[in-house]
Amino acid sequence: MAKAIVITGATSGLGLSHAVYLISKGYTVFGTSRKENPDLKELKEIYLRDHTKWKFSNKEKTEVIAKKMLLPKKIIANLDELLKKIQFYKMDVTSDKEVNDTIKEINEKAKVVNGRGIDVLINNAGISFYESVEGLSMENWQKTFDTNFFGVLRVVKAVLPFMKERGNGQIINTSSLGGVIAIPFQSHYSASKAALKLFTEGLHVELRPLNIKVSVLLPSDINTNFNKNTGKLSSNTFGELNSINLKEMIENNPMDKKSPHFTKAKKVWSVIIKNLIISPPPITVSRKLSKIIKARKPKISYYAGDFIQGFLLLFLRRFVTENFAYFILPKYYGM
Ligand SMILES: NC(=O)c1ccc[n+]([C@@H]2O[C@H](COP(=O)([O-])OP(=O)(O)OC[C@H]3O[C@@H](n4cnc5c(N)ncnc54)[C@H](OP(=O)(O)O)[C@@H]3O)[C@@H](O)[C@H]2O)c1
Repeated sequence: MAKAIVITGATSGLGLSHAVYLISKGYTVFGTSRKENPDLKELKEIYLRDHTKWKFSNKEKTEVIAKKMLLPKKIIANLDELLKKIQFYKMDVTSDKEVNDTIKEINEKAKVVNGRGIDVLINNAGISFYESVEGLSMENWQKTFDTNFFGVLRVVKAVLPFMKERGNGQIINTSSLGGVIAIPFQSHYSASKAALKLFTEGLHVELRPLNIKVSVLLPSDINTNFNKNTGKLSSNTFGELNSINLKEMIENNPMDKKSPHFTKAKKVWSVIIKNLIISPPPITVSRKLSKIIKARKPKISYYAGDFIQGFLLLFLRRFVTENFAYFILPKYYGM
């Protein structure tokens, strides 16, 4: 019987892409988010937009990357049906009760389908803000950790008793390249994702003897709504990313204009937005995820997404001193 997979944050970006990709591979997929009944038409729009809006800087690169990343024909032709097959549940990862009740319910449902329960948990839900360390309110620092770190912990704690009882299972947590090196004006995000990375490494060691596989996914910038949401959460609005209204998006930098960091933050924001437009689409990460699920002995960490960012990170983290790395990184962001 096909594996039953739970994905948190399945109504947008990476989570939605994973859900569609894994359903197309024959898995049973339970997608969760804060939405009560996600509108499938809206999800279809988000999915197609995330996979079609990217632009590349030169033609040669476009052709190579497009071949590798274009959506499979099978997915484009059957997208409505695939979306209908995803079983959506409302589960805010910041609520103990909602997480415990929903995971229990999903496990029962999965048991009916495959006789086992939840086989794979993909922790993907995450948020960020764009703000300086002192500019971000304590409430939003806590919100970041409550979603990106404690949100994952809550779901892991709810799923583990079922996996332990059965003596097998798999957990894949989504950190970020930003959890390996700090992104300017997103220290809260980087700190939460770094905590998540080390937590996952500890969990891997703890659960290996129990036959539960644990890995951490470290995506580069991916072309999703993430940074748009990041801006919105800072209570600013700016043009839809898919309208490619680059100037407006750059102008509407979510940092408070009165902030002493404003000039630098504006430059960094412009690099973030420009990067986003040339970033790979989410399916590149979904393909990697599918390989991790199939692997007999999955590795602890997996980098995914943009090759250049991955390479830059490897270079800065492994081959130069920390001080030099943090001399180069701000330059990359135009500071
Ligand atoms: N995009 C990137 O460049 C990038 C790079 C590295 C890592 N990542 C990580 O990848 C993950 C997915 O990001 P994305 O780019 O796909 O972002 P996204 O498009 O903004 O999607 C985020 C998803 O998380 C859900 N979510 C947010 N808060 C939640 C909560 N409290 N409870 C339940 N669900 C919640 C949202 O659904 P609702 O709003 O419907 O609840 C949405 O489905 C995040 O953990 C992010 O840190 C992203």
